[in-house]
Amino acid sequence: MGLYDPPNASGGPTITDDALPRCIAIDGPTASGKSVVGRALADLLHLGFFDTGLMYRACTLAVLDAGIAPEDEAAVTALILGIDLDVRWPEPNGPRIILSGVDVTAGLRSAIIEQTVSLISRIEDVRHELVRRQRAIAQREPVVMAGRDIGTRVLVEARTKVFLDASTEIRARRRLGEEQVEGRDSTFETVLAATRRRDELDNTGHRAVRREQAAEGALIIDTDAIGIDDVVAQCAELYRQVNPGS
Ligand code: DC
Repeated sequence: MGLYDPPNASGGPTITDDALPRCIAIDGPTASGKSVVGRALADLLHLGFFDTGLMYRACTLAVLDAGIAPEDEAAVTALILGIDLDVRWPEPNGPRIILSGVDVTAGLRSAIIEQTVSLISRIEDVRHELVRRQRAIAQREPVVMAGRDIGTRVLVEARTKVFLDASTEIRARRRLGEEQVEGRDSTFETVLAATRRRDELDNTGHRAVRREQAAEGALIIDTDAIGIDDVVAQCAELYRQVNPGS
């Protein structure tokens, strides 16, 4: 599979007219369940899944590796415009991120990247470049894409747009569970503070981290009270309604 070839692409640079409208855009704040829901939905509908946060994380890794100060916007932008970043799908719902020929996916959730990624993702020229690359992925075939600006900017044409919401406390609890599984020494208080800080930092530009910022027409789902199966079922129902014959 070549550069950005989505999971089911048969090769060749064909652009499908209907690919962007058929994509599913999932937005929402940190730890709102975008990846869990997106992956399950992709499995159900036999689509690929892509968590765009991984691209911002890989760029952050490249900046750190290059010894560039994350605050130096001009230097960061220059690096990202020429970055050798590839996305491959050995499994339809498990994309791998290849940076300069090396699969870096496993390290993209490290504490240092977690702390730095918002400084990179707030740079408008970086966002512009990554939006362009994300659209190139989605133009090839319909995928489920998760992020903060998917419905509002990356996949404006998508017929299925979902905004997942959850209270800060519930999101912090979920994140705490993930961090404990990774063996980190986190407490609820530290994770709650980090979740609040992340929301503040992510709340810039075209990004949607609050439900008032959701894409027009997006289905807004509050995941505090309902389980993942119900969330996935609601999204799949919407997808089938707006994509007759699917
Ligand atoms: O979803 P995440 O925690 O992996 O996102 C990492 C960072 O990238 C976070 O600062 C939000 C940002 N991001 C973004 O600005 N736009 C996206 N489409 C996806 C992620």
